[in-house]
Amino acid sequence: MKILVTGGLGFIGSHTVVELQNEGFQVVIIDDLSNSSINVLDGIEAITGKKPVFEKLDLKEKQDVINFFEKHKDIAGVIHFAANKAVGESVNNPLMYYENNIGTLVYMLQQITKLEHQNFIFSSSCTVYGQAEELPITENAPVQAAESPYGNTKQVGEEIIRDTCKVNEKLNTIALRYFNPIGAHPTAEIGELPIGVPQNLVPYITQTAIGLREQLSVFGGDYPTPDGTCIRDYIHVVDLAKAHVVALQRLIGKKNASNYEIFNLGTGTGSSVLEVINSFEKVSGEKLNYKIVDRREGDVTAAYAETSYANDVLGWKTELTLDDAMASAWKWEQKVRS
Ligand code: UD1
Repeated sequence: MKILVTGGLGFIGSHTVVELQNEGFQVVIIDDLSNSSINVLDGIEAITGKKPVFEKLDLKEKQDVINFFEKHKDIAGVIHFAANKAVGESVNNPLMYYENNIGTLVYMLQQITKLEHQNFIFSSSCTVYGQAEELPITENAPVQAAESPYGNTKQVGEEIIRDTCKVNEKLNTIALRYFNPIGAHPTAEIGELPIGVPQNLVPYITQTAIGLREQLSVFGGDYPTPDGTCIRDYIHVVDLAKAHVVALQRLIGKKNASNYEIFNLGTGTGSSVLEVINSFEKVSGEKLNYKIVDRREGDVTAAYAETSYANDVLGWKTELTLDDAMASAWKWEQKVRS
């Protein structure tokens, strides 16, 4: 079965391509290489023994999208990762985010709704919950006003899909709300490749330990949490990737309960920033240079997933630990810099 993965050379996309190929799917990747490297194809081949079909394509070019789907009418499912994801950048350049994340989603759905098999998986985010009143966060927690244009593109993206599903009964979709994806493939053949100074915690930790950054700033030590630092649900990217395969199989097997479903993807366990640092120091044997500084604007105190819906209905749960994720992230960082 032919599966289209947009953004398939990116961090989560590439790990998902590996899991799809491991399950015997034939993968076609679209990526514009704006935030990824063509070398990722070699990494995928090294792990799976198979190079996926790749087409460099900018989804903002509507005619190119039309032509692509004309050529690939036999697609059995689409996993749509291609998007920008830097919160700060989205605040400074909202129109770029609305064009890249929303405009392209519309172009995709316009073509997918012409296909014989209309199975669509969308990358959403726990950012839609903001600071939830109740923890752990269930899928029924209210969506709150977005803190950034990036966050808004995830909310609006979900709404666009939901509205399209209402009038297209053939269109079957699942929105996956990721908590904090981290780590790398255990082989260190693929991993996260942030361009410039990383904004996210784990790449900042590994880049500091390898000597690329002077010191990690821990944003805020006075939160109302046991150690004063923020709490997040860090999920190993390999577990996350496997959830996409399970979700896709649910749609292909017509096991979905409605044509628009939402699942949280997390471990169910919250970890503080200091706990993440401790895990890193334990598995790497390195001492991390860090300092507690002021809070970062827009950060919520705590977010972690209620996972029972994904566990029971998708039949998926995480298998890897925070230590596994930190060890794999460190192995990857060492390989990239060697
Ligand atoms: C961020 C985004 C979120 C997005 C996700 C994926 C914000 C406010 N949220 O999630 O919308 O879906 O990335 O890209 O940007 N931290 C430090 N020092 C650092 C970096 C981070 O202490 O140098 C702390 C943060 O305060 C936070 C935790 O580490 O408590 C995780 O931060 P990060 O990795 O940026 O993820 P989120 O902010 O949860």
